[in-house]
Amino acid sequence: MNPDTIPRDRLPALLCTAPKAELHIHIEGSLEPELIFALAQRNGVSLAYPSVDALRAAYAFTDLQSFLDIYYAGASVLLKAQDFEDMAMAYFHRAKTDHVVHAELFFDPQTHTARGVSFETVIAGLSRACERAQNELGISSALILCFLRHLSEEEAFATLEEALPFRGQFIGVGLDSSERGHPPEKFARVFARCRELGLRLVAHAGEEGPPEYVWSALDVLKVERIDHGVRSVEDPLLMQRLARDRVPLTVCPLSNVKLCVFKTLAEHNLPALLDAGLCATVNSDDPAYFGGYMNQNFVEVFDALPQLTARHAHQLMANSFEASFASDAQKLQWREALDNVFSPTA
Ligand code: ADE
Ligand code: ZN
Repeated sequence: MNPDTIPRDRLPALLCTAPKAELHIHIEGSLEPELIFALAQRNGVSLAYPSVDALRAAYAFTDLQSFLDIYYAGASVLLKAQDFEDMAMAYFHRAKTDHVVHAELFFDPQTHTARGVSFETVIAGLSRACERAQNELGISSALILCFLRHLSEEEAFATLEEALPFRGQFIGVGLDSSERGHPPEKFARVFARCRELGLRLVAHAGEEGPPEYVWSALDVLKVERIDHGVRSVEDPLLMQRLARDRVPLTVCPLSNVKLCVFKTLAEHNLPALLDAGLCATVNSDDPAYFGGYMNQNFVEVFDALPQLTARHAHQLMANSFEASFASDAQKLQWREALDNVFSPTA
């Protein structure tokens, strides 16, 4: 396999058909406006927007918070286990067309328990979708419970208590929501407890927040992956650390432009992250809100950045498998399938 011999005009097709893992998708962020309206009707929930088009027209964000306000409102239509299952199945069907073979899904239980929906309802619907994704679509998956960082650590502990009877149904915990003013160290004790429990640990850091937040996610929370992390380039020592330890960054190009982290995709620092030897991956974050699922992210970012080559494409997909929480045996199988697709004789 030598990706350097693959011409650039073959890249879009290759990007779309190559097997890949998605490691940064908030399942509530996959709720398309049509499904929001269908669920609102099914559950008798009233929405602040008169139509699907009016809702979609409101998706013009100036920063992370302006998005989160509308994203939490969208999630208000989710009441029953069936709603969570339908939402996740819609995502898995979409992922299948993008040749996603493995997905690790974030979910925000506090967004639902605050509205009187039990943790059990949320996890029952999502777990059932994960089982069906394997049986009906051949996609493996896992769930990662995210704590909302704009809430207190005490509330995160209460959520962990509610979740523990269902410990077998999620593999890890993450940290999301409003980053600025809510540094990782605010959650030091709850992450330490999760670590003792053998949960896998990830956190959003360096999306809008400074490189210091990436340092404290690594050194205080002891996370295994950083979600986003694009602001790490501002700190050369941090870049060395991330490269040395091959700490994965789950980068979300379309999200970064929609939330004004970068003005345009052409200014995105994905090439710099890869060329510095970091284990960067491409992901969709909240695809229903940010203009595209996995392949859209790949195709648009490669289109906007001509310095990205077939070697980078292969590296990104290999990184997605390396960075996943799947078994080594499974990773090896995926890697072989990936190398076959990138072999010039394929
Ligand atoms: N929740 C959903 N999407 C998010 C993002 N991009 N950053 C932080 N929290 C989120
Ligand atoms: Zn995210």
